Amino acid sequence: MKVPDSGMPEEAYWNSLFNIPAIVDWLDLKHIAGPVVEIGCGYGAFTVPVAKETPFMVHAFDIEPSMIERAEEHIRREGIENARFHLKDVVDHGTALEPESAGLVLLFNILHFDERRVLLEEAARILNRGGRIAIIHWRKDIETPRGPEIKSRPDKGMILNSIEGLDLRFDSDCRIIEPYHWGMKLVKGKKS
Ligand SMILES: C[S@@+](CC[C@H](N)C(=O)[O-])C[C@H]1O[C@@H](n2cnc3c(N)ncnc32)[C@H](O)[C@@H]1O
Repeated sequence: MKVPDSGMPEEAYWNSLFNIPAIVDWLDLKHIAGPVVEIGCGYGAFTVPVAKETPFMVHAFDIEPSMIERAEEHIRREGIENARFHLKDVVDHGTALEPESAGLVLLFNILHFDERRVLLEEAARILNRGGRIAIIHWRKDIETPRGPEIKSRPDKGMILNSIEGLDLRFDSDCRIIEPYHWGMKLVKGKKS
């Protein structure tokens, strides 16, 4: 199942809607312990800078061949070797990555659908203990130039409801990421 969207706008415009360096900084890539998995990579706006900043492999998934092609082209042009692309419907089929094999899962601008738990469950399955999920989405508190309708945009409460019973907990980091996004992190494993 493709997560509903209103179509990706032109790439340069899409990229202008984020403070990409601030978001990559927020990921704190120096402290991750394993490969990065990005579900719904789109144009690769985050795949490229993340792959540049981590020595680990970046596995980027998308359901759209045209998105995979574009993102792969950016990676090739930059001479980046630690990224692999997977054309896959992750909602219906998962990632097929090994359990407990990832250090960080990115769920960026993709959790605006009722079955979001499916992706959180898959992320929990593939994460190492102590591994993190980073979520960003469009803010609900302001008008934004793009993004799904306000009522389907997730917020922290909706995400926490969706992880009930999973081996995930809130990582005490939830913030506005100017101009139009907010972010939160989850960590795998119960507090000891
Ligand atoms: C709104 S875009 C966000 C792209 C990227 N994460 C970003 O923030 O720049 C959502 C992406 O998720 C992909 N997508 C939607 N449903 C998917 C699914 N079931 N499995 C994998 N990718 C999916 C879309 O093709 C699209 O590229």
